[in-house]
Amino acid sequence: MTAYDVSSARDELLDPVISMRGISKSFGHIQALRGVDLDLYRGEVVALVGDNGAGKSTLVKILAGVHPQDSGTIAFDGENVSIPSPAGSQDLGIATVFQDLALCDNLDVVANLFLGRELGHGPLDEEAMEQRSWELLRQLGARVPSVRVAVATLSGGQRQTVAIARSLVGEPSVVMLDEPTAALGIAQTAEVLNLIELLRDRGLCVVLISHNMADVQAVADRVIVLRLGRVNGRFRAPEMSYEDIIASITGAMNLGDRKPDSGGAK
Ligand SMILES: Nc1ncnc2c1ncn2[C@@H]1O[C@H](COP(=O)(O)OP(=O)(O)OP(=O)(O)O)[C@@H](O)[C@H]1O
Ligand SMILES: [Mg+2]
Repeated sequence: MTAYDVSSARDELLDPVISMRGISKSFGHIQALRGVDLDLYRGEVVALVGDNGAGKSTLVKILAGVHPQDSGTIAFDGENVSIPSPAGSQDLGIATVFQDLALCDNLDVVANLFLGRELGHGPLDEEAMEQRSWELLRQLGARVPSVRVAVATLSGGQRQTVAIARSLVGEPSVVMLDEPTAALGIAQTAEVLNLIELLRDRGLCVVLISHNMADVQAVADRVIVLRLGRVNGRFRAPEMSYEDIIASITGAMNLGDRKPDSGGAK
């Protein structure tokens, strides 16, 4: 991380990187999101949880430029923005790792990392890309045997790491991960959770969608519960309890039923 003076570092931590207000989205007659307010800060892990169909992926896809919202505003570093396309999202500094990872199995690690943003004009600067690939993977503590092997030969955890490394090529300030550990074993899950903490410690905002409450409780600084397209719970570590989160997901407890989380952040 580059050195910068402490006051600006504090300001950056205090001001949300992303503020969503009143975000609604319908698909035909299905209202996927209803008036969602959400602030995201640098240097935190925010878990987005909720039952199937609660609207988690839709919210992430709006920030990823996949779907436009029907109404509501999005501010990035305090300025209202529209995110009309995935490229627009990336340009703002938002990176998304979708659940299917969208890696090209037959290509090697370097090619996957730089797909669509190859270095060099005319002939590709393979050497620079290879060096940058090693650098990125080393920063992530990734144990990949070689950056010249096809990603098809890698384990699930290594593939997830490559997908996360790819999201970091553009030096984003927000990384959104949709179910990054769903297909992973215990050791690989632990590696990905370590990686999430590493990104947070480097000052990124990490948005984690997960159905796995153990993962959520292990890494999340805050938990936002979506239910039927609405925010139905906001929790902050370390006070959050498993029972309260589950009750909020199922609707046994609703937002007005308990004291709001102590930090007051949306
Ligand atoms: N492209 C789409 N076309 C039509 N309906 C959609 C589309 N995307 C999402 N929906 C609907 O919007 C609602 C919210 O879906 P979303 O995928 O955001 O839920 P989710 O919280 O990510 O669920 P899951 O945990 O199952 O991934 C669901 O009712 C879903 O069927
Ligand atoms: Mg989803």
